[in-house]
Amino acid sequence: MTSDSYQCTLAIIKPNAVRKEDEIVELLEKQGFCVLQRRCVRLTSEQASEFYTEHYGKMFFPALVTFMSSGPIVAYILAKNNAIEDWRNSMGPTNSMNARIAAPESLRAKYGIDEMRNGFHGSDGPLTAEREIRFFFPDFISHPVPDGQTATDY
Ligand code: TYD
Ligand code: MG
Repeated sequence: MTSDSYQCTLAIIKPNAVRKEDEIVELLEKQGFCVLQRRCVRLTSEQASEFYTEHYGKMFFPALVTFMSSGPIVAYILAKNNAIEDWRNSMGPTNSMNARIAAPESLRAKYGIDEMRNGFHGSDGPLTAEREIRFFFPDFISHPVPDGQTATDY
C-alpha cells in the first residue's frame, strides 16, 4: 500500500442513532473503515448552523439545526481507500424512506427514520472533508502512511 492509497472522511452518527453506536461501529469496521478519531459532542444551534452553512436559507434548515442540536452526536474521522465515496455509499440515499427501497442494506435504511432523521452524515468531497474534519478535530494532522503499512498500522 502506498501513502496515497487511503483517504479520510468525516462521519457523524446523528442524535436518532447514537444509542446504536456500538453495532454501527462494528458494521463500519467490517466494511473496512478505520476509526482514526472519535468525539461525542452536543452541538449548540449556532454550531449546527455553522456546520450546515451550505444549506442556510433552505426550507428544511431550521428543523435540521434544531434536530442536530437536540442531543449528543458522535463524530468520527474514518480512513479507508476511497473513504469519501465509500462512506456515502454505505450510508445510502439521504431520505431513509427511499433508502429502504433503493438500498435496503444501507445504514440510513437500517437506522434512519425519514429525510431529516436519517442517522448519518458523510462529507461529499475532498474539500468538504477537510473543512468538516477541521470543524470537529481542529488539531488533527493527516499523516502520510509509510509504504507497506495500512492506515490502521500506525
Ligand atoms: P444534504 O446535504 O442534501 O444530504 P446528505 O446528508 O445526504 O449529504 O442535506 C443535509 C441534511 O439535511 C440531510 O442529511 C438531512 C437534511 N435534509 C432534510 O431534512 N430535508 C431535505 O429535503 C434535505 C435535502 C435534507
Ligand atoms: Mg450533504
